[in-house]
Amino acid sequence: MKQQFLDLGKQPLANVFLDTQDEKEFTYNLKVGFDEETKLVSLMEYVDSGLMFNDTYTYSASMSETMKKHFKEVAGFIYSNLLGGTISEGHLRGYQFDRQAYKFDAPIDGYILEIGSNDGVFMKQFVSNDNLVVGVEPCGNFSDITNQLGYKTYERFWNKETSEIIKKENGRPKVVFAANCICHIPDLDETFSSVESILDKNGVFIFEDPSLLEMINRNSFDQIYDEHAHIFSVLSLNNILSRNNLTIIKVINSPVHGGSNIIIAKRTVDLNETDIDPSVKTNIDNEQIFGLDKFETFQRWSKKIEDNKTDLLILLNNLKKSGKKVISYGATSKSTTVFNYCGIDSRLIEFILDTTPAKQGKFSPGMHIPVIKYSPELMNDVSYVFLGAWNFVEEIKNKESNFVKNGGKFLTHVPKIMMV
Ligand code: TYD
Repeated sequence: MKQQFLDLGKQPLANVFLDTQDEKEFTYNLKVGFDEETKLVSLMEYVDSGLMFNDTYTYSASMSETMKKHFKEVAGFIYSNLLGGTISEGHLRGYQFDRQAYKFDAPIDGYILEIGSNDGVFMKQFVSNDNLVVGVEPCGNFSDITNQLGYKTYERFWNKETSEIIKKENGRPKVVFAANCICHIPDLDETFSSVESILDKNGVFIFEDPSLLEMINRNSFDQIYDEHAHIFSVLSLNNILSRNNLTIIKVINSPVHGGSNIIIAKRTVDLNETDIDPSVKTNIDNEQIFGLDKFETFQRWSKKIEDNKTDLLILLNNLKKSGKKVISYGATSKSTTVFNYCGIDSRLIEFILDTTPAKQGKFSPGMHIPVIKYSPELMNDVSYVFLGAWNFVEEIKNKESNFVKNGGKFLTHVPKIMMV
């Protein structure tokens, strides 16, 4: 049974940008709860998937250089470690992706199935037309793009039926990969059992999603919104995967999205004792020491979130009173949560800059702040820039060194209100 610990108020869909400022929107109650049995943190009320993931979905992972580089590394790792391909060293730098930790017999021929292939940011690391990677993507605008590029993509949600169709038409994948997707799917038991039933013998399931531990450490409550049905701890995943006959064999902590976990799992039937890397126990132990298995931890977090709102509003109101121009950088889903929870509209943040064509010229969900096509001159008379995309702070600071040289300041609310 889920017990509520956080109420972020009435919210619109985080990624649905409006054509006009007075457009009517769908709203829902953004409340978060903790399940004592599985230790899973989830939304109290799930939003219908078809409302969020359809032909008008705007989040395009290729818009960020950080994400492109990350997926290049992950693809290199999968290709060389799990499929027995040869790849240059450069692709494997970055995280602790090491060959020794795996006991797979290389070379393995077979294909990678990607769940939630978005605009193809991962698939495009592989040569198209060689059937090395097959995608599943419910947003038709994106599945059309990757299909046209020669990557076979099923325009479907991931579920039992999709798994059966893909198995029949393509055989069993050696690797099932998903990035920032599994946490979007309400029914985890169906999701995991459908992976278990399609995976080839000795195949591997690799998925990455934001880490609950990092989220609390960073106080990045803005990572909670409609699409993120769950926020995963390794602890909760361990419980839910194991009841679906999958076993975690390694956990890689990655800096992506402010701190994510890359989970590597195998079918329990294929497991050898030696498959399990010490990182699994280390991560679970750390989470237990932190208290991710206790409701009180989440109650304390909820109080910190309320304080963050108070401090942010004080600062923005003071800047407004002293005549400073404040804008936001990155029309993110995260800022939808912050702006709507705190009631921040264009009175406090004049406009949002973004490089994504599908968001430009539109208005932000709920608070209807204009989203303007990024151009560096638009920052000339700006004093403060709120980092809607704080997860790309380094990339943004490098790009905007002139703004900083001219006395401009970047402002963030994570882990507390501060200038960076
Ligand atoms: P992301 O932080 O991945 O968003 P979400 O919270 O929705 O998961 O998205 C980053 C957004 O910021 C995306 O709309 C692109 C935009 N952006 C810029 O406009 N300029 C930049 O330099 C960067 C890094 C991102």
